[in-house]
Amino acid sequence: MKEVKTICCIGAGYVGGPTMAVFSLKCPHIKIIVVDSNPQKIEAWNSNELPVYEPGLLDIVKQTRGKNLFFTTDIDSAIDEAEMIFISVNTPTKNYGVGKGMAADLKYVELCTRQIARVAKDDKIIVEKSTLPVRTAESIKTIISGCSSEFSFQVLSNPEFLAEGTAINDLLNADRVLIGGDQTPEGLEAIEALTAVYANWIPRERIIQTRLWSSELSKLTANAFLAQRVSSINAISALCERTGADVDEVARAVGMDSRIGPKFLKASVGFGGSCFQKDILNLVYLCRHFGLPDVASYWEQVIKMNDYQKHRFAQKVITTLFNTVSDKKISMLGWAFKKDTNDSRESAAIYIADELLQDQARVHVYDPRVSPERMIDDLMFLQSVKNGNGDNKLSEKQIRDGLIVHKDPYQALENAHATMVVTEWDEFRDYDWKSIYDNMLKPAFLFDGRNILDGAGLEEIGFKVYQIGKG
Ligand code: NAD
Ligand code: UGA
Repeated sequence: MKEVKTICCIGAGYVGGPTMAVFSLKCPHIKIIVVDSNPQKIEAWNSNELPVYEPGLLDIVKQTRGKNLFFTTDIDSAIDEAEMIFISVNTPTKNYGVGKGMAADLKYVELCTRQIARVAKDDKIIVEKSTLPVRTAESIKTIISGCSSEFSFQVLSNPEFLAEGTAINDLLNADRVLIGGDQTPEGLEAIEALTAVYANWIPRERIIQTRLWSSELSKLTANAFLAQRVSSINAISALCERTGADVDEVARAVGMDSRIGPKFLKASVGFGGSCFQKDILNLVYLCRHFGLPDVASYWEQVIKMNDYQKHRFAQKVITTLFNTVSDKKISMLGWAFKKDTNDSRESAAIYIADELLQDQARVHVYDPRVSPERMIDDLMFLQSVKNGNGDNKLSEKQIRDGLIVHKDPYQALENAHATMVVTEWDEFRDYDWKSIYDNMLKPAFLFDGRNILDGAGLEEIGFKVYQIGKG
């Protein structure tokens, strides 16, 4: 088996950056080159202001950067030097043409593949790290073999299961590592080469080797199952509110069944993040493509339930505030899609802010990690993907006038009619809620979209509190 001395990773994003940082830490004998077409991103990776906020990441990067970890825009040289190339580029939902709004956009994957084929001067192992539709490896092989017949290219699927906010721990102590490849002598050899890299820190029994298509499909399936649990508990949260049951008590009772398990049963304002929605839409698209409309409808419901939950929360705010939020100051604590990340892609916050802005509210936001420009971009992006005749689209002026971003949470809350907690940042629990109450307009409403303020004594202070799934 050929020993891997140099790895190139194309895509220095939320997956490529942290994953390769951990590779560099655990494989000091391997040179890791992370490349990206975005020069600002590479510049940031070479500074102490990393483009990705992730607890523990900066410490690792500081230890290995310049030793065996390198960030560069020189993609061709890195491809040339590496025996193994990870493709870790973004695969967003397609927003044009065939499959618009459903299929994964594979143009970045295809560009990388063509670049590898053009530049390679010897045999390469290509590793799909991005989340891809089942059978993408076939397209990669077709493109490569069409461009170059001189060298041998093996394509592996090695999907990433890290969650943002806990990425470093997830990478260091992965439940499992999945490696799919061709069941030919060359394919099996490539699988072993990648297994040997992970075996530097992951116990062998946790490294699963499968066929290519099983590996690709397992990733979409894992995300669909996780999202389904959140939608299931969120569906029950609506019923709890009608019946007087408490969703946290129900989740605890259900989760203590060892066949079900306690994780991923936290009712919320709706799941966000760049992947759950995208990957389920992709799964739905694939099911339809393969002639399985009933299977497609089954999974589509997970997304519909999530949309319902976000909408239900925004409507709850509006109806509680006497059916109008026009010109009212509504504060929003949190914008990131979960705590401990600066990522806000598909965050429930975007959809809720959008609905309130349409109702002419003044939304005052505070988030410890997400920049104001990012928030505006998120709202602008949402307008660009809205369907319909444009009636419900906000203009850039409406967004910039209506969304006021604060560096100080207390300023975001001062004189507000209501506040909404949409991200579960730990610091929110430590706020001086008594003084916040004193400085809000009365009656002061608090909408806890994460149910994190249990025990903060808010009702005793005087707040009128709404929590998800509590009657
Ligand atoms: P990202 O947008 O943060 O990063 C992707 C990077 O690829 C960007 O920096 C972009 O500039 C770069 N890029 C795109 N095309 C390029 C090209 N042709 N050459 C060089 N660079 C190029 O995306 P991400 O969140 O890291 O996700 C990457 C993939 O991993 C996706 O398929 C996603 O579904 C999957 N994934 C993401 C997570 C997560 O937590 N974010 C977890 C598991 C899997
Ligand atoms: C998710 C998966 O957990 C990862 O395994 C996967 O690699 C990744 O997607 C991906 O493919 O991108 P991530 O989206 O980073 O990771 O974060 P999660 O912890 O899964 O949370 C997703 C969303 O669900 C967040 O908005 C979170 O607040 C919400 N959630 C999660 C709930 O509302 N309730 C829960 O009980 C759990």
